[in-house]
Amino acid sequence: MKPLRSIAKKLKKRMFRYTPAGFPDSEACGAFYDARFGLLKGDDMMVLEYSGIEAQQRLFTRAMTLLPPHGQILDLGCGLGHLILYLDKKHLTYAGYHGIDVSSRMIDEASKRYSGRSMVSFERCDVLKDPLPPARYDTGYILSVLGYPIGDDPMKSMLGIIENTFAACRTGIVFSHLAPGRKEGLKFTTVPEELAARCESELGAKVEIDDDGENFTYLIALRH
Ligand SMILES: C[S@@+](CC[C@H](N)C(=O)[O-])C[C@H]1O[C@@H](n2cnc3c(N)ncnc32)[C@H](O)[C@@H]1O
Repeated sequence: MKPLRSIAKKLKKRMFRYTPAGFPDSEACGAFYDARFGLLKGDDMMVLEYSGIEAQQRLFTRAMTLLPPHGQILDLGCGLGHLILYLDKKHLTYAGYHGIDVSSRMIDEASKRYSGRSMVSFERCDVLKDPLPPARYDTGYILSVLGYPIGDDPMKSMLGIIENTFAACRTGIVFSHLAPGRKEGLKFTTVPEELAARCESELGAKVEIDDDGENFTYLIALRH
């Protein structure tokens, strides 16, 4: 490998490892992903902070098993719209897909990639500022989105995003989050059973947890 290319690769890897402690608001989180996209363009998994495509696909499989997609799908924090490719690959059908992200570069790029599809749409939006219309979609997914603390009260921000997305989906939603004590360096973690109990009592949701007690990522499905 040429020396310059090798240095560039090492620098990229270093950047991949750098993650902020949190964000003052969702806009700042969007700006972080805007910058990542600009710098790491060409390597989607690095942009999205996955260790590799397998990790992303495993997470999608767990989510789709908990709550199979149907009708109108909402993908909150859609990133580059990879969920669409996954649904294609697995022959999972749906009537429409709407991807929302607070990063304008993600939305621009995803819109370009799927511009030929009439049933697919994207929108730049911060749900903490502009709530979604109630009961507009059927099944909603918030995958690898809630890993950073946002604002002075991160729990309140996270529950705000979950509550708003849940109200926007007629059947229910699945979200992923991070468990404490299973991996060094995680920025924002919550005990799965505690988060599920809050969703049950505060949102009136029927909850189901996917957690093996070892993996640092767990998923929770909320049904109406
Ligand atoms: C790690 S990426 C995951 C993308 C996609 N869900 C996937 O799994 O491939 C997280 C995405 O969530 C978006 N995001 C974070 N907080 C958000 C919020 N409050 N509203 C909308 N998008 C948000 C970020 O801009 C980023 O594109």
